[in-house]
Amino acid sequence: MTVSLRVSGTVRVPGDKSISHRALLITAIAGGEARVRDILPSADVHATARVLRALGIPVPALTSELVLRSAGLAALRTPTEWLDCGNSGTTTRLMAGVVAGRAGLTGTFVGDASLSRRPMQRIARPLSQMGAEFTFERGDGLPMQVRGAALQGISWRSEHASAQIKSAILLAAVSSGVEATVYEPTRSRDHTERMLSACGATVEVLPDGARVMAGASLRAVDVDVPADPSSAAFFVALAALAHGGELVLPDVCLNPTRTGGFDILQRMGVQLRVDHERVVGGETIGTLVVAPNTLVATSVRGDEVARAIDELPLVACVAARAVGETRITDASELRVKESDRISAVVANLRAIGVDAEELPDGLVVRGSDQPLAGHVITHGDHRLAMAFGILGAVPGNTITIDDPACVDVSFPGFWDTLARATQARAPAGTSTDAASNALRRLIVAIDGPAASGKSSTSQWVAKRLGIRHVDSGAFYRALTALAVRSGLAPEQWTETGVLAEAGRVSLGLTERSVVPLVDGERHEEELRGAAVTAQVSRVAVMPAVRAWVNDRVREAGASTDVVVDGRDIGTTVFPDAPLKIFLIADPWERARRRLVQRLERKPTDSEIAVETEELVARDARDATQSRPDPSAITIDTTSLTQEEQVERIVALAEAVRGRPHPPSTS
Ligand code: S3P
Repeated sequence: MTVSLRVSGTVRVPGDKSISHRALLITAIAGGEARVRDILPSADVHATARVLRALGIPVPALTSELVLRSAGLAALRTPTEWLDCGNSGTTTRLMAGVVAGRAGLTGTFVGDASLSRRPMQRIARPLSQMGAEFTFERGDGLPMQVRGAALQGISWRSEHASAQIKSAILLAAVSSGVEATVYEPTRSRDHTERMLSACGATVEVLPDGARVMAGASLRAVDVDVPADPSSAAFFVALAALAHGGELVLPDVCLNPTRTGGFDILQRMGVQLRVDHERVVGGETIGTLVVAPNTLVATSVRGDEVARAIDELPLVACVAARAVGETRITDASELRVKESDRISAVVANLRAIGVDAEELPDGLVVRGSDQPLAGHVITHGDHRLAMAFGILGAVPGNTITIDDPACVDVSFPGFWDTLARATQARAPAGTSTDAASNALRRLIVAIDGPAASGKSSTSQWVAKRLGIRHVDSGAFYRALTALAVRSGLAPEQWTETGVLAEAGRVSLGLTERSVVPLVDGERHEEELRGAAVTAQVSRVAVMPAVRAWVNDRVREAGASTDVVVDGRDIGTTVFPDAPLKIFLIADPWERARRRLVQRLERKPTDSEIAVETEELVARDARDATQSRPDPSAITIDTTSLTQEEQVERIVALAEAVRGRPHPPSTS
């Protein structure tokens, strides 16, 4: 049976990453108070918030409507810690500009492995010429120490069309109150110029660059962050690759320096209409309505490259399905992004069976309609994960992705959104659940009554399978920690109050588990601490909180293979999990195991009897929740060791995964 992909519905993509960074940073240096709506709470923007906090700016949590109050440049202090920019080039280069312009301020910028490899001399050269001092431990890249100074003005001709270079220079000039002019080979995105000008700076747009005049006095302005066109592009591409249907993408930023990707995809055939176009806060926004069409190859070069720079990996993936040969040239900047996007895209296209070739400054892709199958290595690059994820959502393609969670850098919730966009109503006889088709994850859902050993068995199973365990309890703890931090007495906590802070909690991946991040950080000690432990059950009984945690667990399962345990996992959270296990054991045995764990010694029979009574009573209370899903496999563990239970589940999971059961190594 031929399967087809229909798309449908409204896809709200999160806030624009470039504008989100600048909303925090420019408000912080302008001073005053600004309301920022719909900021992108992604890992990269958390990095900017973190660096600003380290420099003394009280950036609040990244909620959908935050108010940032800052005393402006004067509030900046030399940090006592490293400025950890994570994966974010924009954070590093723009913040380095700000620090460079402040005499007396010194900061050392560090980042993850990918960011540490990216070139920083491209900003150090102009900023040093202005008078700042840069020290590199390794010639280029991070760690990079920036010592600020009272700078001189500059007129700089950049070799690269890079908004980060341009912004670093303009922000350094603003920071020192001097004039700067930046010329660039082709125009890069201009959000810095627009926002500085909205805050009262005099910014001149030149035919080949931008100038900021000396001595402006800035004042923060409110920012409504529009949806990110670079994130929307994935769903325009999804519509392009579909066989039917239509997607609606509201409030997308249509700044002309950002719309190259849409132009290219339109040229390749996707039907794209803009409705309700308007200007909000100096940026044009509109609703995109996109539908599929036959795709043809195209060429991308020259000025269009900068306008589509972040979308080019996606264009290359769409080209794999277009008739003819697509050529992208003049794009050597792609080599210094989160990964070398020329070699990584070509290697991955080849790995899934596409005819693709590297050029020094671009790539060539020859399209086909052959099914594509293989494993994608993202190098932690969010845009690669999403571009190949879109290609993987096409029925018939079987594409696995090594690190799906890296999408959190710019698009938390991407896999969920993709799954929803592809759950179109199918015409009879077709299967359209393409996201689950392409992203078919190994989800092992383990349920069972109290003290059945779900949690420890799940962790062990995850380890044996080499996949991640979802610590759903930790998500309740994260919300509890935020409630504790609010300072309100626990008796006054309400469901609405607790959930109001939930936007601060996102998914984080460690090697072996999916954990909550609060404002982008682990906070393990706080989450396990006594204050949280004492109150977590108060939060965990709130129905809307349970629903919220269930959504996070689903999100985890959509982004990576998982083992997950809990009371309603197989029935409510993952009714379609490919493997559901229901662990049971005789109450006496469960009571005995629980006591061994608690007392760390052999319990007496009378102790076991008391505990058994308690468990039986609890079973009766839980009867509705702990009924097994009819498709679950029940394992009676009464006479099994934990290792035996684990091995049984692992064998079942390997069978589901279609692989032979490897010998035990643990
Ligand atoms: C960005 C500028 C671009 C872009 C990046 C975001 C920005 O980088 O690729 O995702 O917000 O200024 P370059 O300036 O290196 O081209």
